[in-house]
Amino acid sequence: MAACRFRRSIAAQLSRILEMPPENLVKSICAVPVTKKGQAADFQFFVSSVIDANSSDDSRPDIQLQTQRLAKELKCDAVVSEINTGEGTVNFTINRELLAKTVLQQVFEDGSQYGIKSELFSGLPKRKILIEFSSPNIAKKFHVGHLRSTIIGNYIANLSEAIGHHVTRMNYLGDWGMQFGLLGAGFQRFGSEEKLKSNPLQHLFEVYVQVNKASEEDENIKKLAQDFFRKLEAHEEQAVSLWQHFRDVSIEEYIRTYKRLGVCFDEYSGESFYQEKSQEILKMLDSKGLLKKTKEGTGIVYLSEKGSPLAVMRSDGTSLYLTRDLAAAIDRMDKCNPDTMIYVTDKSQISHFQQVFQILKLLGYEWTERCQHVPFGRVQGMKTRKGEVVFLEDVLDEACSMVLEKSASAKTTKECEDPLETAERIGLAALIVQDFKGLLSSDYQFSWDRVLQSRGDTGVFLQYTHARLHSLEEMCGRIDQVSHMNPACLQDPQAISLIQHLLRYDEILCQSSQDHQPKHIVNYLLKLSHLAAAAHKMLPVKGSVPELAEARLCLFQAVRSILANGMKLLGITPVNRM
Ligand code: ARG
Repeated sequence: MAACRFRRSIAAQLSRILEMPPENLVKSICAVPVTKKGQAADFQFFVSSVIDANSSDDSRPDIQLQTQRLAKELKCDAVVSEINTGEGTVNFTINRELLAKTVLQQVFEDGSQYGIKSELFSGLPKRKILIEFSSPNIAKKFHVGHLRSTIIGNYIANLSEAIGHHVTRMNYLGDWGMQFGLLGAGFQRFGSEEKLKSNPLQHLFEVYVQVNKASEEDENIKKLAQDFFRKLEAHEEQAVSLWQHFRDVSIEEYIRTYKRLGVCFDEYSGESFYQEKSQEILKMLDSKGLLKKTKEGTGIVYLSEKGSPLAVMRSDGTSLYLTRDLAAAIDRMDKCNPDTMIYVTDKSQISHFQQVFQILKLLGYEWTERCQHVPFGRVQGMKTRKGEVVFLEDVLDEACSMVLEKSASAKTTKECEDPLETAERIGLAALIVQDFKGLLSSDYQFSWDRVLQSRGDTGVFLQYTHARLHSLEEMCGRIDQVSHMNPACLQDPQAISLIQHLLRYDEILCQSSQDHQPKHIVNYLLKLSHLAAAAHKMLPVKGSVPELAEARLCLFQAVRSILANGMKLLGITPVNRM
């Protein structure tokens, strides 16, 4: 990794002066973010990181003084061509030609591994990570929260896998509970085998809505539903086989839709797997003296003396969402023994997962420390022209058809081999970027207009930039090695800014993998695209002398490659034409 080579070289010098091992210094040497002001140093060393944080304020040396002293002792060499100071930082400028050559060479050499081969990741132990995400409820609404969970979980899985972890992607379906009693009873009355076959999710949802309404007016239906659920819990063959049928056709349809999103799962689990195991949990709670009962017979647990009780068992002895989650967590640990177990849901479930983890701890499971909930905020106003979102499919269709309409009216549209596929990829990019731009925990207001702008900070803009760079390669040729490239041709401010930005990619991946926030990557790629647009304008390839043209092509090709890599991590498939 190019950045590593420079960081190491700077660390070696610092290490001699500070008498500290270079490995300890490397982490405090960062690539300088590119700003509008342009031309700045390439790396900065944070002096505070080596000043003893434990010393009291009086004895702590003045940081600025230390910074200046340190900068004076450092010398320029074959790698570093300039040293100066900023606020608490010593700044390093790398030899211009060495910088351009090394960075581009590395991008070409490492390909999809650029940034990942960095030493920022080399000490990282390879872990087993189980990520549970999406987890919709059969027959109920696939709300925007499930869409968010799906794309966020997929991004976390992609990035974790890319940096070398072993990842299991799990979908934990809401496939149990009273709704299946209603659905079973409802299907016998309102259902159609044919509709179930052709459009399962839609049909099950319709039946569910219909029977829900009917049960409000008709006590009889309520009874039938309870009856059906009781049969289900007692494993009566007919009831189970109908339920199984609902589940199978639903999963089939989910898989088709997930495919459009580019998402797949290693495992489809579900609440239904944990009815019996929940009973074991109740026994365990009981044997530890944790299970109490209310007057009505509901099983409860107290997490603390003053806290309010948590229900873990219905008065008829059946399990609850919470109980099933306890059983599921233990089962996952038993079977996969992951080093990290992640749950991705909206933030309304924060306290639910806190409770799950706390009870597991009370039960003596030390591995609870390895469980983590990644919560995200709510999206308001995601509607299609037909109305509120019920099916994931509808959102994707809407995104796709809006892109098609827009491109039909735009003058710049190029002929594509498969306009539908292209529109689908652009639409998805738009949804993902909109969703990933802010902190995951923030709520946001959804707007199709904003999402689909081609020049704003959108997924459409990323796709547009990628397609543009791709067509540049088609027009002017692809470069397959950098060795002949003359780095002296890449000294314009626009070229340097791009190269400096490429230098930061590994730090961005590192940050994103530590806090699970995709916004670092998204904002990095948006910036990359803006810088590329500016450079494209000022640094033409066509019409330049061959040496210059080649160097610029090299740069743009490197930019496209990183853009594509980053987009793929986010779950976006780059398009070559639009
Ligand atoms: N099916 C649930 C819902 O839609 C989400 C499940 C989250 N995962 C879990 N292990 N509880 O609200």
